[in-house]
Amino acid sequence: MIKIGILGAGSMGSGIAQIAATAGHEVIVFDVNTAALEVMKKKLLKILNRLIEKGRINETTKNSILTNIKYADKITDFADCSLIIEAIVENLEIKKKVFAQLEEITADDAILASNTSSLSIASIAAACQNSTRVIGIHFFNPAPLMKLVEIIPAIQTSEKTTEQAKEIIKSWGKLTVLAKDTPGFIVNRIARPFYGEALRILEEGIADIATIDWAMKHVGGFRMGPFTLMDYIGNDVNYVVTETVFKAFYYDPRYKPSFTQKRLSEAGYHGRKAGRGFYDYSPDAPKLVPNQDEALSQKIVNRVVCMLINEAVDALFWQVATKEDIETAMTKGVNYPKGLLQWADEKGLENVLKTLEDLHFEYGEDRYRPSPLLRKMVRTEANFFQ
Ligand SMILES: NC(=O)c1ccc[n+]([C@@H]2O[C@H](COP(=O)([O-])OP(=O)(O)OC[C@H]3O[C@@H](n4cnc5c(N)ncnc54)[C@H](O)[C@@H]3O)[C@@H](O)[C@H]2O)c1
Repeated sequence: MIKIGILGAGSMGSGIAQIAATAGHEVIVFDVNTAALEVMKKKLLKILNRLIEKGRINETTKNSILTNIKYADKITDFADCSLIIEAIVENLEIKKKVFAQLEEITADDAILASNTSSLSIASIAAACQNSTRVIGIHFFNPAPLMKLVEIIPAIQTSEKTTEQAKEIIKSWGKLTVLAKDTPGFIVNRIARPFYGEALRILEEGIADIATIDWAMKHVGGFRMGPFTLMDYIGNDVNYVVTETVFKAFYYDPRYKPSFTQKRLSEAGYHGRKAGRGFYDYSPDAPKLVPNQDEALSQKIVNRVVCMLINEAVDALFWQVATKEDIETAMTKGVNYPKGLLQWADEKGLENVLKTLEDLHFEYGEDRYRPSPLLRKMVRTEANFFQ
């Protein structure tokens, strides 16, 4: 079995190392910060013990996972790894430096992968002489639990690298989808309106956070409402992803970040981890009561879901991924109750288009422009799946 190198022992690196070691690989983990390696060791032990308590694994498995993982004190220990997954700080200059270094250390045919959420794979690959072996392998947090992995070949990446990366990740029990090297790849692009449109509805005073969350969860069928989810992800993290996607799309108003979330982030109201975000998590905080008015909740869900559908259709229009992969990405990467294209079929494409056109007319903003593919499909009376 090939040896796997993991660069960066933070939340993502440690999760990916756990997956690879569970699949039986020898895994070498390196981090510039040795304290991070110590934290990872402790956390991993805790996680494995919890899995034993839950009866998911036994002592033997725990021990083999632990012995499969080796902690390196220098990057040159990656020399005989066939796949290296980088999960360090999200900074292009640092990643480029590290990839140039990895190329010198490793065998010519080793795959060099980045777990970046927002940087272009082409720009990272450009740091290597042989960029055909560089690829994006994007896991979701928490990596051991989330089934989905986006595989992102850069324009320089060879087909062989893409195929090999896909096979290895599939052998770890993950579901892979192929994404074009464009901002946000599939999930982080299509999911933007889940947060952005909910924030608009709040800012306009149409409904409060508890009402929007209630509607999206109980009427929309989403696992968590958008404000609960933003507090869970962290408003600092979620805001930066939105801003990065917005800038990367040349300031397309569709992805415009919200001042409300920016102020929360600036104030340090990062969400659950800070004890305060959209919600107050202190034990004596008053419980917010949602307005469960049926017409209002239908209006909220319809607006957010139609915006999500429009993103999914547009991603298909721009060939970011196949329709099957778009459905898999949103149901397995962010646990949406159903695929957005299937949802569009069920709602009726003409109804989705009408909602978007009404919003477009009302606000006069490019943010609400329907995807050309949606218009075309309505015109030709087509559906995505039937
Ligand atoms: N956290 C998420 O939800 C998530 C999800 C998907 C992808 N990602 C991406 O994964 C990567 C890592 O994210 P994270 O949340 O695990 O970050 P993190 O801050 O938890 O961990 C990053 C680790 O990298 C180490 N590091 C920094 N520079 C290094 C270098 N030059 N060499 C070796 N180690 C170095 C740090 O010491 C730290 O331990 C980022 O590119 C991020 O965009 C994050």
